[in-house]
Amino acid sequence: MDTQHPDLHPLFADHVATLKARADKALLRSGHDHLVIAAGQPHYQFLDDRDYPFCVNPHFKHWLPVTKAPGSWIAYTPGRRPKLVYLQPRDYWHAVPETPAGYWVEHFDVEIVREAKDARAHLPNDAARCAILGEANAALDGFAPNNPADVLDYLHWHRSTKTPYELAMMRVASRIGARAHRAAERAFRAGVSELDIHFAYMAAARQTDNELPYGNIVALNEHCAVLHYTDLAHAPPAHLRSFLIDAGASFHGYACDITRTYAAHDAGEFQALVDAVDAAQQGFCAKVRAGQSYPELHVHAHHVLAGILREHGFIRMSAESAVESGVSSAFFPHGLGHPIGLQVHDVAGFQASDAGGTIARPPGHPYLRMTRTLEPGMVVTIEPGLYFIDLLLADLKQKPTAKDVDWDKVDAFRKYGGIRIEDDVACTEDDPENLTRDAFAAL
Ligand code: GLY
Ligand code: MN
Repeated sequence: MDTQHPDLHPLFADHVATLKARADKALLRSGHDHLVIAAGQPHYQFLDDRDYPFCVNPHFKHWLPVTKAPGSWIAYTPGRRPKLVYLQPRDYWHAVPETPAGYWVEHFDVEIVREAKDARAHLPNDAARCAILGEANAALDGFAPNNPADVLDYLHWHRSTKTPYELAMMRVASRIGARAHRAAERAFRAGVSELDIHFAYMAAARQTDNELPYGNIVALNEHCAVLHYTDLAHAPPAHLRSFLIDAGASFHGYACDITRTYAAHDAGEFQALVDAVDAAQQGFCAKVRAGQSYPELHVHAHHVLAGILREHGFIRMSAESAVESGVSSAFFPHGLGHPIGLQVHDVAGFQASDAGGTIARPPGHPYLRMTRTLEPGMVVTIEPGLYFIDLLLADLKQKPTAKDVDWDKVDAFRKYGGIRIEDDVACTEDDPENLTRDAFAAL
């Protein structure tokens, strides 16, 4: 999307109006007069003068598409235009943040400051009347983030409902990610190393490691069994069998999170398993509908994946007993997915209401990151997987159920590592919108 596209103006105007209305209610509930949000300050490495990559406060980038302006602030008082206090430091060592420009600027009163401490003069006088969201290191003299729980609970809960503007940003992020995934697949087919696949991905996304929403997982062969493998081997393996890539992209502060698994051309038995997981995954995506309990969908996924394990000859027990006995968890040891948006693992996945509270995970599913019931406007990932993980298989081998596992078959698949297929899916009033599949289809 052309970011200057005229349609962004009304979309963004409505987005800001929604954020103001949410802030009004959050402040009414907490009894504060102002909402103040710190972009944040860099963190420094221990005993060093080098800073970690700057990661902006997600509350800040919710209000405007600015991710690289440490020391800046947003101040909002109900009934008034929000104010952006924007730090453009006198600095000849580093690039100075660009002067605010674009479709969003007209919605803010912009105050430029040259030193971080000068922001204080443009923020509300009485800190005690402010809900101040941010990290401790953003504090100014007498003005420290207090992060009121009731304000955060309210804002986090409602952040799950994406505005049309946010969905537009996520569609663009998905298009960038899909394009880069295609480039990565081509690099895999050409036989290059994990590192070179990663470089091909970044070149196609035109994003650096620090701009991507999370560290790319680029795994060949057995490495596909490591759920968060980020080592990036520098040399290609002698024989290519499988390729798992879990990599996203960012656009104006919003993330996509996409995983694909490919078989080498001579890995037909593995390709059949990839196809089965892919078909199952699309079935789960189709269930992203209003009123669907996400934990129930996760448990349903266990049953379907256990059925695949049985059909493909890895286990001899029924799918039901594989789920009940925990055998399915040895092959699918993570959650079905998570909320996504401003953060790749977005907030409020467990929240019971806009007043806080927690919806517990179902027993036996310790890694599920989403226990809520789906509502229109939510975006979640759907990322089932089947893996051959030595550590978990060794545990399984010690259990009575091990007798119903075909270990020769399992052992033959260890060299492929595993499979994960992940899409980002928006829940609507009607059919789900699969941001990821739509993005691939549009390439
Ligand atoms: N994309 C990595 C994850 O969802 O954990
Ligand atoms: Mn994910």
